[in-house]
Amino acid sequence: MSVKAQREAAIRDCISRIKRSFQGGVTVPALEVAKHHLMSLCEQRALFPRSDFPVPNEVEIERTSLIYQDEDGGYALYVNSSRPGQTSRPHDHGGSWALVAAVEGEETHRLYVHDGSDVGGLRQVTELTVQPGLAVSLMPGGIHAIEAKSSEPLLHLHLYGLGFPQQGKRREFDQETGQVHRFHLKDLGFIEDAR
Ligand SMILES: [Fe+2]
Repeated sequence: MSVKAQREAAIRDCISRIKRSFQGGVTVPALEVAKHHLMSLCEQRALFPRSDFPVPNEVEIERTSLIYQDEDGGYALYVNSSRPGQTSRPHDHGGSWALVAAVEGEETHRLYVHDGSDVGGLRQVTELTVQPGLAVSLMPGGIHAIEAKSSEPLLHLHLYGLGFPQQGKRREFDQETGQVHRFHLKDLGFIEDAR
């Protein structure tokens, strides 16, 4: 069996386990169980070779590859392959929950709450480093910002309840002006379909 076929089988198994964990609804404890299923997938490093997910060149900085999605747009799983220096400003995921786990490399996640104000109202609550063995989970409406501070490239998995095209109400926060911006899919750049 090819690596891609093995990866697809492992992904299907992981997604079905995560769906079972959400049978009672998307709760903090259920999301914690789901997070560990995604971390278990990441531990199978041989399924995510650099030959399939290369380190991007200096111009690209990051590459995003879709590797699984339900036909209705749900349960979208992406590989994020980045060089050091990748950043994203604070954002939510349009009402979707989110999980980010590491196959290799590390990045800093800052987590926020927002009081609903048109301007300002964003407050950081914690900061953690996503790396092998340590993942991050966001409930629907959860806000995070990402910064790849390490000198090593990273390869992380991002799983969402809704794929990027379905995250139509996503918000992004400008910390200099305090303004809230609506999500534009084009701002994410090219997403490869690697299914
Ligand atoms: Fe995000």
